[in-house]
Order: sequence, then C-alpha cells, then structure tokens
Amino acid sequence: MIEPASHNKTRMPWKGSGLSLKKRSTKELQKLNIEAGAAMGELVRSSFGPCGMRKMISDDKGQTRLTGDGEAIVRALEVRGGWYRGASGYGDSERGQIEPTIKNPICKIMAQAAAALDVELGDGIKSMLILAGALLTNAEHLLDDGLASDLIVSGYKKAYDKAVQIITGASLVIAHQDANVLRNLAMTSIRSKDVGSAGEHIRDISMAASDMILDDHPCGRDINMNEVLENVKFVKRSGKSIADTELIKGLVVEKAIVNSGMPRRVDNARILVLESPLELDRKEFHARIEGRQGSLKAFLDQEDRLRDAWIRKVVECAANVVLCQRGIDVKTQINLAKNGVLGVHWVSRQDVERIAKATGAKVMINISDVGSEDLGAAQLVEERMVGKDKMVFMEGCEQPKCVSILIRAGLDKEADETESALTDAICSLASVRSCDRIVGGAGAVEMEVAKKLRSYSVKVSSKEQLAIGAFADSLEAIPESLARNAGLDATDVKLGLRSAHEKEEGSWLGVNVLSRKIENTLTCGIIEPYGVKKRVLRTAVEVASTIVRTANIISLRPNREAASSPHTADGGA
Ligand SMILES: Nc1ncnc2c1ncn2[C@@H]1O[C@H](COP(=O)(O)OP(=O)(O)OP(=O)(O)O)[C@@H](O)[C@H]1O
Ligand SMILES: [Mg+2]
Repeated sequence: MIEPASHNKTRMPWKGSGLSLKKRSTKELQKLNIEAGAAMGELVRSSFGPCGMRKMISDDKGQTRLTGDGEAIVRALEVRGGWYRGASGYGDSERGQIEPTIKNPICKIMAQAAAALDVELGDGIKSMLILAGALLTNAEHLLDDGLASDLIVSGYKKAYDKAVQIITGASLVIAHQDANVLRNLAMTSIRSKDVGSAGEHIRDISMAASDMILDDHPCGRDINMNEVLENVKFVKRSGKSIADTELIKGLVVEKAIVNSGMPRRVDNARILVLESPLELDRKEFHARIEGRQGSLKAFLDQEDRLRDAWIRKVVECAANVVLCQRGIDVKTQINLAKNGVLGVHWVSRQDVERIAKATGAKVMINISDVGSEDLGAAQLVEERMVGKDKMVFMEGCEQPKCVSILIRAGLDKEADETESALTDAICSLASVRSCDRIVGGAGAVEMEVAKKLRSYSVKVSSKEQLAIGAFADSLEAIPESLARNAGLDATDVKLGLRSAHEKEEGSWLGVNVLSRKIENTLTCGIIEPYGVKKRVLRTAVEVASTIVRTANIISLRPNREAASSPHTADGGA
C-alpha cells in the first residue's frame, strides 16, 4: 500500500523555515519509494503479453477506454504533465492498490521513463515497468539484508553491462529483407493487442507501411520513432470491422471537396499544394474602398484580375487538384471548378507536410512561383464517404514517404487498440532496421541472461555479487508474468525454463503462452528486436537505480499541497 502523507503523524515545524521534520528513518523512506515504484510494475503486470487482461480506463468526463497498451495505461495516470493523481479502478497491484488520492513523485519518475521509452521505441513499455518493479522489489530485499544502496546500484550497473554482452552474444544477425523474420517480428508485437482474428491482416498492413516509409532509411542507422510515426496518418472510424482496415498508398484528408461544381474524382492527379490563401484579405480591401470612394469597380476588377492570374497559373502548370492550407474564396472555387480542378481548403499544416511527402509535391508559399515541377502526383484523388463523413483520398502515389491507414472497427475502443497494434508493429520493424539483430521473445533471452549472470556473479567477490544475483532474479519476472497471465504455474514455468536453458541449444527456449509449452522461440516465430530489449533493460536499470538512491523528497510546493503528498520529508532520520 502506498501510504499518503497523512500517515506521517509527527510534524515539527522548523521555526520560520516553513519546513517540517517527519520522524521516518532514511531506510523507511527508501522503502516507501521502492514500494511506490514497484506498484507501477504491478499495475501493468496483469496486462502483459498475449494473454494479458485489458484495463478499463475511464476519465472524469465519463469516457472509457479498454486497453492493454502500456503507453495508454501510463498516459491515463495523468502523471506526465503534473503530479500523479492515481489510477483508481484499475490498480490491481498485489502489493497494494494505487489509491486515487496519491500524488507520488516516484510513480511520476516511472511514468516519465515509460513516456520517454515510448517516444524512443514505441513498444516495450510494460516490459520496462515490470523489470524496473522487479529490480526494486529485489533491491528492497537486499536493503532488508543490510546491503547499502550504493552497493546495490553498483551491482546492478555491473550486471547490466554484463547483460548487454550476453544479449549481444545471444542475438542473431538477420538480413533486413527477410520477409519471414519481419512477419514474425510484427506478429510478436501484435499478439499482445486485442485485434481479434484480424492479426494477420494488421501484420501485413504494418509491414507494407513500414516498407514504404522506411524505404530510404539506411540499415544500421539509428531511427527516431517519432519521425517514423509522423509519416503514418491514422484515421479511425467506427463501423465495419478491423478486417476492413486499409492501407492507403498516399494520404487521406478528413475534409470534403470545397465546391459542389468540382469533380469528385480525378485520375492521374497533378497536385498543387499551397500554403498561402486563394482569397483576398477582405479587411484590407474594405479599408482601401473607404479611402478612395467611387473606385469600387476598379477595386473589384483588380480583385478579379488577381483571381484570373491564380487560375491562369493553375492551368499553365496543368494542376488538376489544388490543396490549400488556407481558404479558397467562392469566386476562385467556381473558376477552379470551371477548369475541372478539384480543390480542398483549410488543410491542416501537418497534413500539408504529409501530402508533400506522399505525393512528392513542393509546398508553395506563393502561387505565382509555381512551376509544373513543383506538383505532386497520385494515381487517383477522390472524395469518399467514410461512415457519415466525407474524406478526400489521394492514393496510388509512387514511392510515398508518408502513408495513411484507415482503421475500421465496430467500436471506438477497438479502433484505438488496432492503432496501438499497428504503431507497436511498425516501431518494432523500424527498430530491427536500425540494428539488424533479433533475440528470442517469450522470456527466452531474459532466462539466458539470468543463467549467465548467475555464473558471472560468483566471480565477483564483493557484496555486489548479491545485487547481480538479484538482477538475474528480476529478469525472470518477464517469463513469470507471461506464464501467470496465461493461467500457467509461474514457478513451474520458471524452473522448467531454467533447466531447459542448461541444455545445449537451449538459449532460444521460451514459454509460448499460446501453445502453453516451452518452445524454441526462433522456430515458433516469437522474436523481438535486439535494440528494443537492450533499451528496455537500460531504462529499467536506470529508473530502479534512481529510486533506490532516493530517500527524502523535498517538496517546493505550497504548504497545503505539500502536506498531502507522500512522505514529503524535509528531514529524514
Ligand atoms: N506467443 C507468445 N508467447 C509468449 N510470449 C509472447 C508471445 N507473443 C509475444 N510474447 C511476448 O509478449 C511480450 C510483449 O507483450 P506486450 O506487448 O504486452 O508488452 P510490452 O511490449 O512490454 O508493452 P507495450 O506493447 O504495451 O508497450 C514480449 O516479451 C513478447 O516476447
Ligand atoms: Mg508490445
């Protein structure tokens, strides 16, 4: 149970300082922090892996979301922007429920680490929280046994360095075009999301999308997942089923065509993308009319001449689609329609950039500078009804660097989950492109590292040996959690895996929770990117080490707020 601050009964204000001394020993405070951090691991543990449970997240507006996605769960805690507000209703921690009134900075540290990992990797959030939680729980046991926190931290650091060597040794280099490996990688990510029987369809979409957007990316170079996901536009609409989700080789703009006189469909589209408006600034125009009375006709003529110049430019460069970030006025719309040009206005900045990437168009600031070489191309631009909304589809782009995925699902919640599945799979495929190595999933690599760390630990003569052993035990939390969520006996599975890994050729053995057997993960296709495993482990160790070393938390917030935060200890023992 994470205790709220009101449990600190003795408060002795230091004269005039505004500080108060709470009678808790440093060790007690350390343990409270550790328990708070470990509770975050417990919070997501039951959602981990293909057999994980979903969490019902409901916000204060009464909106609910059903998800097993680590990022969505952590985001729902609303800790990123402010103080932790708790997760009433979905805290199923065994150590204790996370209470709705807690404002816990330690939980916030965990959540921030998860958020940073999500930006970097897009997957592996729950793995990191579970590992960090296990490292913290085992650190607590070591503290109870009298080990100093700096020895625990340095032992964890040694174990981490060794673990990276072991993971590298246990990984397999792959040819990045190996379609079978890529299929399995994507499927390992998708399996833990709730997409019903559409898993393979979602897998194929994620593979095709990542192929297009990563086409230019040199293998072996680091990839920024934010940039990768920027290039995929997800459009979600309920209705139909997940199996109707489709990849658009181009872009979908959630806008209708601007004028009913314009064509609804243009084949072999030549697309002009404009940042500036195709309308005149009315305010400026009125001011001029007032200043020079009687010359209204001259002004109107001048306005028409300007419009004519725009249309001439469009016709000159043979554009048949105009997409404008700003407005297109009615007269210009009519002129464009007369020339058979399809127009969309008030396209968002982000969509304008994406259209440029998808179609190869240049975003033009000034229409008078447009040449035919600045236009983008798509096989087809068409307005379609999706559910009850009109959208403009630009598809059949050649080598698009940006694509759209139109997600269909019976319920909004399913659409959200499908988006999570797609982003995780795309990120996993992008990760493997940057490292070209894979490791066994389903706890295989964790068991292998744990085994080798145990034999390494006995070579360390200091007390750090205990911390290295505790690190090895913590890694086993991964297969244990997978097994427990599948209704298997976690201890049996752990012991079974330990003995299996002692055998020759045992290093790829993991627990396949679908067949409920210990299997070779390489042959049964449960594989993960090497880079993700390494990064997840690093974040878990870093965050656990930070928390183990934290005792007092000094609050700089106003007194009343500080009083309600957990062990806002201004003085320790
Ligand atoms: N058939 C399977 N049997 C056992 N484990 C599996 C199977 N398929 C995938 N896994 C494992 O499931 C784990 C991934 O689960 P999950 O996606 O729920 O967690 P995460 O990736 O850490 O979190 P998130 O996806 O929310 O960021 C990996 O360890 C992976 O190896
Ligand atoms: Mg995942």
